[in-house]
Amino acid sequence: MENETGISDPVTDFSETDSESNLTLNAESKSDSSRSSNEREVVFEAINLSFAYPGSSPILKNINLKIYKGDFTIIVGLNGSGKSTFAYHLNGLYRPTSGRMTVFGLDTKFRKNVSAIHRKVGIVFQNPYTQFVGNTVEEDIAFGPENLGLDREEIKKRVSTVLEAVHLKDLAYQDPSTLSGGEAQAAAIAGVLAMDPECIVLDEVTSMLDIAAEDRILNLIDGLRERGKTLVYISHNPKDLLKADRIIVFDKGEISFDGDLLDYIASGKYRLPDMVELLKHLRENGMNISETISDPKEAADEILKQIRSK
Ligand SMILES: Nc1ncnc2c1ncn2[C@@H]1O[C@H](COP(=O)(O)OP(=O)(O)OP(=O)(O)O)[C@@H](O)[C@H]1O
Ligand SMILES: [Mg+2]
Repeated sequence: MENETGISDPVTDFSETDSESNLTLNAESKSDSSRSSNEREVVFEAINLSFAYPGSSPILKNINLKIYKGDFTIIVGLNGSGKSTFAYHLNGLYRPTSGRMTVFGLDTKFRKNVSAIHRKVGIVFQNPYTQFVGNTVEEDIAFGPENLGLDREEIKKRVSTVLEAVHLKDLAYQDPSTLSGGEAQAAAIAGVLAMDPECIVLDEVTSMLDIAAEDRILNLIDGLRERGKTLVYISHNPKDLLKADRIIVFDKGEISFDGDLLDYIASGKYRLPDMVELLKHLRENGMNISETISDPKEAADEILKQIRSK
């Protein structure tokens, strides 16, 4: 399958060999974020959603929101603000104490809907070790595609592709519980990628990765985006925000901001990452630097070019 740029995505695009799967994305499912919200397909909808853990006061309080197909939404918020608790609602793992959560129109309160939702929404947990079910990394990654009923050849191909994509080929036969934090995060991501779900929820999945591994995962995310996947990404990393279509801020179980990056910056809630802040100052002081730069090397080249041309 080719992506929007016309280049075939060799990484985790399984659609060519998986044309029968209901998880397959095709050209029609590419991002439609340019359309107005009332004509766009709603993937997740929370309606007056509140949630309390047994015996405790509400953690999520009257959340109302819609997340649209193909969007890349980032959720941020302080520790304990309810981000992970909300993420668990997105595939029916948790159900609202009151109110409703629907996924592709299916209410998560009905058990029969939840297995259909699990096929469409993959979630990578904040703590990857809680996610593993296999005795080896390879077995663990194969588990999801096996549950989808895919044939052996397809499963083998998927496992091998995702292991390569996250650079874990050498650890294929290792017990996942013995992996380092970063390796475990990569393996958990691979497990979800192997299922090729329509929507992927990633809960602080790069917190234990080194810079090279983090870049690999961010590139994978870019590829998924280009293929029209709906992505919900919980992140503490300010640089991730530069990529988002939409930013949602959780504050003590409530949504305190919901909008795009420009609105977020204007709201004063966001401390710009140092590099972006630096570029802003340079621009304000007359240097002609493109607004689209988000990579430090690109920024350095641009600054040097400007200085040398004086
Ligand atoms: N299983 C649980 N039982 C009881 N309380 C819980 C449970 N899990 C989380 N909590 C509480 O719910 C609140 C929200 O936790 P949650 O993990 O959703 O926050 P978070 O925004 O994801 O935080 P972080 O940024 O640290 O990951 C916290 O006060 C936490 O202590
Ligand atoms: Mg969390």
